[in-house]
Amino acid sequence: MDTLVILDFGSQYSQLIARRLREANVYCELFAHDVPAETVRASNPRAFVLSGGPSSVVDPGAPRLPAYVLESHLPVLGICYGMQLMAQALGGIVRTSTRREYGRMTIQRQGASRLLPQSLPETFEVWMSHGDQVEKLPAGFQVVASSSSCPIAAMENPGERLYALQFHPEVAHTQHGLEILGAFLEAAGLERTWTPAWITQQSVERIRSQIGAEPVLAGVSGGVDSTVAAALVHRAVGDQLKCIFVDNGLLRLGEGDQVMSALRQTLRAEVRAVNARAEFLEALAGKEDPEAKRAAVGETFIRVFEREAASLSCGARFLVQGTIYPDVIESRAPERRAAARIKTHHNVGGLPPDLRFELVEPLRYLFKDEVRRIGLEIGLPAELIWRQPFPGPGLAVRCLGPVTWERLERLRSADYIFTNELERAGLLGPGTAQAFAVLLPVRSVGVMGDGRTYDEVVALRAVSTEDFMTADWVRIPAEVLDRVAHRIVNEVAGVNRVVFDVTTKPPATIEWE
Ligand code: XMP
Repeated sequence: MDTLVILDFGSQYSQLIARRLREANVYCELFAHDVPAETVRASNPRAFVLSGGPSSVVDPGAPRLPAYVLESHLPVLGICYGMQLMAQALGGIVRTSTRREYGRMTIQRQGASRLLPQSLPETFEVWMSHGDQVEKLPAGFQVVASSSSCPIAAMENPGERLYALQFHPEVAHTQHGLEILGAFLEAAGLERTWTPAWITQQSVERIRSQIGAEPVLAGVSGGVDSTVAAALVHRAVGDQLKCIFVDNGLLRLGEGDQVMSALRQTLRAEVRAVNARAEFLEALAGKEDPEAKRAAVGETFIRVFEREAASLSCGARFLVQGTIYPDVIESRAPERRAAARIKTHHNVGGLPPDLRFELVEPLRYLFKDEVRRIGLEIGLPAELIWRQPFPGPGLAVRCLGPVTWERLERLRSADYIFTNELERAGLLGPGTAQAFAVLLPVRSVGVMGDGRTYDEVVALRAVSTEDFMTADWVRIPAEVLDRVAHRIVNEVAGVNRVVFDVTTKPPATIEWE
């Protein structure tokens, strides 16, 4: 398949570029700038985008532009650092500055341009990094936009199909950013075939050719990824697929039933539900350290899954896994993963690599929003598709301190009240990426009726975020918080106080453990 290759020079927006291009229905892949040339060539590139990055092109140790990019004579779009690399490689001059600031800036279009066509306004706002900039054009290029502090804000050499922007078209603060990316795709002559229907059809064919007539297993957790992955495989090979749903007792209220009904009724897939609550509770007994809880849940899952898979005795060699593209990108760039390792994230369904199964990973090249579109395309219920992310270790990491059934039930009830009230107030939309309750291992004194209480505290957390790497807390109206607090202390036995978490990420994380 024709691919647009994005080379990642370390910008925080690299994945965003890929998502924007995919939204424009173009298939693209993101590679670290220093992967071997053969790896990139194997993906059959038809154009390149060079991302931004934190380095300065004049530093001796800074990432270089791999030679194969310009040697290919394919269309190239350089963004920020990518523009500077392109200029440097082609004989232009880059002026450096030690100061690096981000901000909005007004640019003015200049002359006829393919990248910034006449349909755009003469001037508009863009999101720019003020740091290094191109001072002298390489031969054959023309300036197509400038700003007061950046005379060469965009340049192009349409004859060679080389284009470059000092600003970031991929971020929402840049006006007309999608049109500019669209103009590049047009100039590069890329086909826009990457649609949900097309992706579904392609993956169904790929799954069929991988699995043939053999049996295949899937662990489903209720998360969007594992459900969509199982649904795609079911569409491809029908009842050759056997699903195992492990009820670990750490799910939210009603969640298990919803997953089972989506799989059994909507897909008519064969699902074995395993009640392993006691086993998980036992593994969690006496564990209060967050990492110890995560390890206990992960290990128990593997044990239960292996046992159930063996008892199904269908001799499956294949196992479905809901790996999505950001996981693949991270594993290709281990330093990024290392930097992000604040907690041991794992998914229920995350199995160790030494398992005897061959993996079927139908979502391997899809971003989360694409996974959702595919899920809707194949008919999964919207409530399931739009469900908020939920950590693999489940309520174990929201029940701070000891994890007991009684405390889990308390947490489930409080959590249900919170999300239910948010939903009634219309606050569970796109502005709230995640909202949940946390049960704290703290007791405080209260008064109910005429009596003293000495009960636990519930913390409420609601965050808005695009990428879950940074997050802000949602300004929930005081009346809604008041209603939630009122209901929780009245309806949930054992809780007499409710607090609201007003910390951003960083410095806090989204989950409390
Ligand atoms: P943190 O707490 O690290 O969470 O700010 C970022 C996002 O990741 C989710 N999360 C997990 N997801 N397995 C998962 O699949 C995990 O172990 C895990 N821990 C946290 C969290 O809910 C948030 O969306």
